[in-house]
Amino acid sequence: MIRKVVGIYYSPAGGTAMMTRTLAGEIGAILDACSPLDVCVECHDMLKEESSSIVFDDETVAIIGMPVYVGKIPLPAAAALRNLAGNGAMTLAAVSYGGRKYGNALFELKRLAEDCGFKAIGAGAFMISYMARRGNSTSSPPAIDIESLSDFGKAASEKIKRLAGCEIEELKIKPMPVEVSGRMPVHKISRISPKAAAIAQGVFNRISVLRRRSEWFL
Ligand SMILES: Cc1cc2nc3c(=O)[nH]c(=O)nc-3n(C[C@H](O)[C@H](O)[C@H](O)COP(=O)(O)O)c2cc1C
Repeated sequence: MIRKVVGIYYSPAGGTAMMTRTLAGEIGAILDACSPLDVCVECHDMLKEESSSIVFDDETVAIIGMPVYVGKIPLPAAAALRNLAGNGAMTLAAVSYGGRKYGNALFELKRLAEDCGFKAIGAGAFMISYMARRGNSTSSPPAIDIESLSDFGKAASEKIKRLAGCEIEELKIKPMPVEVSGRMPVHKISRISPKAAAIAQGVFNRISVLRRRSEWFL
């Protein structure tokens, strides 16, 4: 039975934080509504907290959020992720991207999470628009593709309910592997500090032309 939904994210400019928190909140509320026990939601910022102290187990759903930098996961985010011990917790891997290409980032995040002992049951790349930040409105929050995020949250919650519905190990449904195409990239360009990334984000917002939509896989 699921008792806890943990959102954990790396988010220099704040968009990935918003995406992860929204998803964790939605899934937590759906699971809580159909559970005899309380399902709590907690969120952790990898830039502010020592992530290795977060406890995951088979009663936890983890939502791991990362931004896409040049089609990859930022190197410090990948390093922070390697400190986590998944202990078989069901996991949704989610990347936020600016509508260009998300390249290998989603594949990479899912693979890294699995290497840390998480059981990936879903993955999604969600577009974040910074259009509102153009001009003078630099302090306005980024706009998430909330419709896709919400569809993913609902569908993922149904899958979690199916997979967590049985307490007897032998009778538990074994999920099909989640297929995300990509390859493990070699890290070079995404070696960028959080401070530099936040500055680069401003440049990206100005030159960004949206070409893609959000995509998710369960
Ligand atoms: C250095 C850098 C590289 C980026 N590379 C890409 C990219 O390859 N494709 C894309 O669609 N968006 C790209 N973006 C946009 C970010 O993925 C997107 O804005 C993301 O939501 C930022 O997350 P954050 O707000 O949590 O920092 C890049 C942004 C930065 C700062």
